Amino acid sequence: MLGKDQLVELQLIETEAGMKPLQGVMMELEDGAYPLLSKVTATTDLNEGFGDCNYAMLIGAKPRGPGMERKDLLSANAQIFADQGKALNDSAAVNAKVLVIGNPANTNALVASANAPDMWPEQFIAMTRLDQSRAQALLAEKVGVPVKDVDRVVIWGNHSATQYPDLSYARVNGKWAKDVINDEKWIREDFIPRVQKRGAEIIGARGASSAASAASAGIDTIRDLHLGTTDQWQSNGIVSDGTYGIRQGLWYSVPTVCNGDSHYRRVLNLPIDEFSAEKMNLTEKELLEERDGVRHLLPKETNGTVTWNVLASLKDAWEAGDMSSVDKIASTMPPGFQKSVEAAKAAS
Ligand code: LMR
Repeated sequence: MLGKDQLVELQLIETEAGMKPLQGVMMELEDGAYPLLSKVTATTDLNEGFGDCNYAMLIGAKPRGPGMERKDLLSANAQIFADQGKALNDSAAVNAKVLVIGNPANTNALVASANAPDMWPEQFIAMTRLDQSRAQALLAEKVGVPVKDVDRVVIWGNHSATQYPDLSYARVNGKWAKDVINDEKWIREDFIPRVQKRGAEIIGARGASSAASAASAGIDTIRDLHLGTTDQWQSNGIVSDGTYGIRQGLWYSVPTVCNGDSHYRRVLNLPIDEFSAEKMNLTEKELLEERDGVRHLLPKETNGTVTWNVLASLKDAWEAGDMSSVDKIASTMPPGFQKSVEAAKAAS
């Protein structure tokens, strides 16, 4: 996940009741003799578990049962993510990246970030890679190629049944997927609803939420963030800065490219047709409703205007020796980063 030579230390967080089964998991991890796994610890204490971590994967949430929508999980889970946001703020490494997997993932990411005032909203990602993988697999099956031959499948919006899996830019061996499929009815009436409802389909079959495929998507997300994806697109639920007309401050899935330095860039200027715009609005509306349901857990409004671009401007100003611009830019940053800038100034 982090490269072929990178040792990994796992800090596992569980509830008191989950501690005994977790001991079993730890034994299995030990018996797996994973060459890069250097240490595994377990705790019920959030601050200890998140202590100095570089990547946090937030999977601890009440799972969805048969017949439940993600919205039903809002009240049960949002408080968990508020607590985790606070602990991450206080204990994680200053540059930690946080992948929110527990549902409702997008709104949980909003809640966690809002409770972490010293961290950038961009440090929190809601996982929609699982939806992208599902969509890629379905497209590959339809056209009879291995999954590796399809790319640029996009997931817009919420990790829920309102998400919009979009094949407008998808390619099969470099050819437009829509031309290869040549069946718009299949896309609208089969592909889109099947991807949207795949989580529920799995719950119906297994009696439990997806596990292995979700874990695999989590690993894919972090690996691509850490090692980079060159020109491959990866959909991630990230804080909206208003691009594509999406309401600022919502965690909304968009296509991104990962630079390999733990940062991502949005894929910009994609043409959006009327059908897509309608679907994108629908999932945005659901996210707005979810946000309204957790307002009591949002001490800090996230306006989404702070972006990694600020870091690039800061670097430019620093390299040009323009300290008044450095101070001005730093004043727009979260306190944790302001402290780092002050320390760098004192050391230089
Ligand atoms: C999934 O998509 O499989 C999971 O997020 C479970 C769910 O609630 O749908």
